Amino acid sequence: MDTITKFPFTLSISLITLLISVLVTTSESSSSLENFLQCLSNHSPPSNPASNAIYTPKNSSFLSILHMHTHNNRFSSPTAPKPLAIVTSLHESHVQGSILCANNHGLQIRIRSGGHDCEGLSYVSDVPFIILDMFHHDSVNIDIEKGTAWVESGATLGKLYYSIAMKSKVHAFPSGVCPTVATGGHFSGGGYGNLMRKFGLSIDNIIDAKIVDVNGNILDRKSMGEDLFWAIRGGGGASFGVILKWKIKLAHVTPKVTVFKVKKSVEEGATNVVYQWQKIATKLHKDLFIRAMIEVTNVNGTQKSVNVTFIGIFLGLIDELLPLVNKSFHQLGLKGDDCIEMPWVNSTLYWANYPIGTRIEALLDVPKDPLFYNFKTMSDYVKKPISKNGLKSIWKFLIKNDCVRMEWNPYGGKMHEISASETPFPHREGNLFLIEYLTSWGEDGVDAKNHYLNISQSFYEFMTPYVSNSPREAFLNYRDLNLGLNYPSNATRLDIARSYGIKYFKNNFQRLMSVKSKVDPHNFFRYEQSIPPQK
Ligand SMILES: Cc1cc2nc3c(=O)[nH]c(=O)nc-3n(C[C@H](O)[C@H](O)[C@H](O)COP(=O)(O)OP(=O)(O)OC[C@H]3O[C@@H](n4cnc5c(N)ncnc54)[C@H](O)[C@@H]3O)c2cc1C
Ligand SMILES: *[C@@H]1O[C@H](CO)[C@@H](O)[C@H](O)[C@H]1NC(C)=O
Ligand SMILES: *[C@@H]1O[C@H](CO)[C@@H](O)[C@H](O)[C@H]1NC(C)=O
Ligand SMILES: *[C@@H]1O[C@H](CO)[C@@H](O)[C@H](O)[C@H]1NC(C)=O
Ligand SMILES: *[C@@H]1O[C@H](CO)[C@@H](O)[C@H](O)[C@H]1NC(C)=O
Ligand SMILES: *[C@@H]1O[C@H](CO)[C@@H](O)[C@H](O)[C@H]1NC(C)=O
Ligand SMILES: *[C@@H]1O[C@H](CO)[C@@H](O)[C@H](O)[C@H]1NC(C)=O
Ligand SMILES: *[C@@H]1O[C@H](CO)[C@@H](O)[C@H](O)[C@H]1NC(C)=O
Repeated sequence: MDTITKFPFTLSISLITLLISVLVTTSESSSSLENFLQCLSNHSPPSNPASNAIYTPKNSSFLSILHMHTHNNRFSSPTAPKPLAIVTSLHESHVQGSILCANNHGLQIRIRSGGHDCEGLSYVSDVPFIILDMFHHDSVNIDIEKGTAWVESGATLGKLYYSIAMKSKVHAFPSGVCPTVATGGHFSGGGYGNLMRKFGLSIDNIIDAKIVDVNGNILDRKSMGEDLFWAIRGGGGASFGVILKWKIKLAHVTPKVTVFKVKKSVEEGATNVVYQWQKIATKLHKDLFIRAMIEVTNVNGTQKSVNVTFIGIFLGLIDELLPLVNKSFHQLGLKGDDCIEMPWVNSTLYWANYPIGTRIEALLDVPKDPLFYNFKTMSDYVKKPISKNGLKSIWKFLIKNDCVRMEWNPYGGKMHEISASETPFPHREGNLFLIEYLTSWGEDGVDAKNHYLNISQSFYEFMTPYVSNSPREAFLNYRDLNLGLNYPSNATRLDIARSYGIKYFKNNFQRLMSVKSKVDPHNFFRYEQSIPPQK
């Protein structure tokens, strides 16, 4: 009886509390917003007024600006939290002003460059927030004599590759495969692609940077010091400041490279080929990179099977490639007909799945509609080859839950020559390959979402015996909130931060926290998986 009378009472009290808190929060955030906007316009020079950069929800272009760089429908539904405003910075002073004014008026910022964050952390938050959008900062300035370039954080990888090709056929840069990813997030999270066995990660080829710190100062490598310069190359930029641009060292490639794809179904012996691939992929010549892409396929209307596509790049010509593969990986059955020679820049289109002969201007394409499908990524590191029986049971799981794909990326070469503490990215020697898991779906709604997220997590659990443990390592650029998350509305819990921090950074997590304590002791730059200051 008691509980029955108490229950609605408690409910209505909490409803009222909720209502009041919503009203208070709304009016608080709208006055914070007014103050922020006023402060921002005071901080911008008359020659570059911030007013031209601001989109509030009242502006009819607000949603299209918001969604222009929103690459996961999971976080762009009508009910997803929206920013109070978007500052599409047009000038360095807008970045400085956004930081100072948000800090002064108790607002958080989300920094966005290309918007590919796998958990949408550059454009959603559970607290009132401003998006600082860097897409206008997209210049690429190449000094081909010196073999270096300054690349702004909003420049996409496609624009970087295209700009290099405009200056030289024998220069390249080692970074990711998707042309619409931007360097702001990609480089600060490591940045890998098919040149990593030869040249390492993007961060292994960065020689300077410009960053705006919590005090609004613009720092370069010299003025920020080696600790902060170390931290932003792989530790995630958004815990430390806003990166304006990077100075990179270009790599040398042959005038033509060779690419190929070989597809094998399980019926055609894919299991054996994958088993062999695990054994030799890290030992292959550094100039050769072969990724295995694993997906479920419909053999006929009813029967499902698994197909593995081996996609390769070789920094040389077909005549040199064939004997190399024949010697160490004859199981692949690579034939001259599978191979195509082309300039390196064309190979970036080939790897991004464009048809042969596509004009390289396609690298500058901005997706007209944001990617309106939902996805969840996760990652793992494999240190011992998975047995043939292990592979077979993995295929079974995939077939049963036909929504997960995998990409297996071999390490070795340069990746194993760089020490684990050289940059915050710790996954170097001892790793055979990196697994990316990609679960994707088209259906809307929370039930579908929970269904697919459940499968994604179940597969991750299923993979436990095959992958790294203590810690189970993960790649920051495949950000995964299942590894632990702090709510920016609460005080940061160190135990939670450790749970994701150790997986992404292993022993480097400690040094990242000590850098954070020095450059942002009050933790202004914080988000669900940021580096907390040391207590
Ligand atoms: C389709 C697809 C393909 C991918 N392919 C690869 C790949 O081949 N190799 C690889 O390594 N990764 C890959 N990734 C992962 C990708 O590198 C990361 O998601 C990366 O962080 C995206 O950078 P962004 O600037 O586009 O994203 P954003 O969402 O804008 O940023 C990602 C993170 O970086 C922070 N950030 C962004 N800009 C700045 C800045 N200027 N200063 C400080 N912090 C900043 C954001 O706040 C956020 O935390 C891929 C992701 C997708 C969705
Ligand atoms: C929206 O904001 C932009 C940038 O501040 C401005 O140029 C534009 O005029 C605004 N549009 C409307 C309809 O208010
Ligand atoms: C799977 O591989 C087989 C054999 O190579 C091929 O015939 C089939 O088209 C592939 N399926 C898909 C969906 O690519
Ligand atoms: C589909 O293929 C399997 C084996 O590959 C075969 O046993 C089955 O009969 C086929 N089904 C149909 C409907 O063709
Ligand atoms: C592969 O190597 C074997 C010897 O190891 C040789 O007999 C065979 O002709 C080679 N095949 C190709 C396609 O080079
Ligand atoms: C490479 O790109 C150039 C420039 O767009 C194009 O003319 C050429 O046909 C491409 N070559 C291949 C092999 O794709
Ligand atoms: C997925 O859902 C099933 C059925 O509801 C449940 O038993 C299982 O624990 C869930 N798995 C995960 C990883 O959430
Ligand atoms: C932190 O905040 C979130 C939502 O903002 C809430 O769900 C959670 O319970 C809070 N407390 C802790 C200790 O994380």
